[in-house]
Amino acid sequence: MNKIFVDACFGKETPYTPVWMMRQAGRYLPEYMAVRAEAGNFLNLCHNPAKSAEVTIQPLDIVGVDAAILFSDILVIPDEMGMDLDFIKGEGPKFSDPIENEADLDRLIGGEEAAEKLTYVYDAIKLIRDQLADDKALIGFTGAPWTLATYMIEGQGTKTYNICKKMMYSNPELLHKILAKVTQVVKIYMEKQIEAGIDVVQIFDSWASAIEPSKYDEFSWKYMVEIADYLKEKYPNIPIIMFPKGVPAFLDKVYGNFDVFGVDWGTPIELAKEKLGDKYVLQGNMEPCRLYDKKETTASIEEIQKIMGTSRHIFNLGHGILPDIPVENAKHFVSECQRVSKK
Ligand code: CP3
Repeated sequence: MNKIFVDACFGKETPYTPVWMMRQAGRYLPEYMAVRAEAGNFLNLCHNPAKSAEVTIQPLDIVGVDAAILFSDILVIPDEMGMDLDFIKGEGPKFSDPIENEADLDRLIGGEEAAEKLTYVYDAIKLIRDQLADDKALIGFTGAPWTLATYMIEGQGTKTYNICKKMMYSNPELLHKILAKVTQVVKIYMEKQIEAGIDVVQIFDSWASAIEPSKYDEFSWKYMVEIADYLKEKYPNIPIIMFPKGVPAFLDKVYGNFDVFGVDWGTPIELAKEKLGDKYVLQGNMEPCRLYDKKETTASIEEIQKIMGTSRHIFNLGHGILPDIPVENAKHFVSECQRVSKK
């Protein structure tokens, strides 16, 4: 059976423009909070294939999106490479043992050996596949090597990125070694996600905007393209979505063998269309806070629709949905996207 989401990723005609939301399986859903409470905490939930599958499917049933995104986290990758990850309530992710030097990096497990430890992710994918309707797509994902490296080097989220930028300018060789090692794990990790049953790959470069535009290719984009090239050669029928957040100055330089470019909310979608629309399908890019108000949501969808028309586009938010968005408003967003784009 044709999956409208996969067709849209390849720029084929679809009966309407499909829609999903980044972070759609999350805290704004009371049903998610209930399963997380059963699991005990967020990491236990990520490690439990049956419960991960359950929360992955929730937004399809509850808000009516056209694709599921695997429930997991980008940071399970460095965790399984041997770093010590914890999610601290109210503070977010923390590694107790950030990478400071080459010896720290050498201690980490790489390649196939690290990717093999993520079996709970592949098991979740198989369970989701069994439960998902044939016409719905399952999106698998990874963090971009740069975004993963920021946590591995800083040990946590950061506003200034001063520790990784100090490395970028004073010891770029070490940063490249870290990025290369992560890239090797991610290639095999995504290959295994595909073998387990995902339909689409998304690479999140959430902290792309921390790199100055003239250095973005060298420290992030080229590694994302390396992953895409590796997957495309083996799996040409699996669409790849690149989501580098906050890089409008890089639009002119975007290159690579992938299918969909995810536009964040701070980048005008008309600019992305002008620069990239002929080469790539575009995804996005409603400002997630428009979801606080239904009228503002509909107005934004209509503006985006006017620019993008009814092909070569996938509706989404320009970043993740926030935990205090009313479920009603998320449903409104999804049904309005499907309504305004219906042919
Ligand atoms: O999109 C989805 O619905 C799928 C699930 C998903 C999660 N994390 C679940 C999650 C995805 C795709 C991610 C990716 C992720 N994780 C990114 C890149 C995407 C982005 O938003 O830019 C990043 C940077 C992370 C790292 C991470 N995980 C942070 C910084 C945090 C804490 C921030 C916060 O909102 O509290 C997490 C935790 C996290 N990952 C939650 C969820 C649902 C909240 C945890 C909880 O239930 O308390």
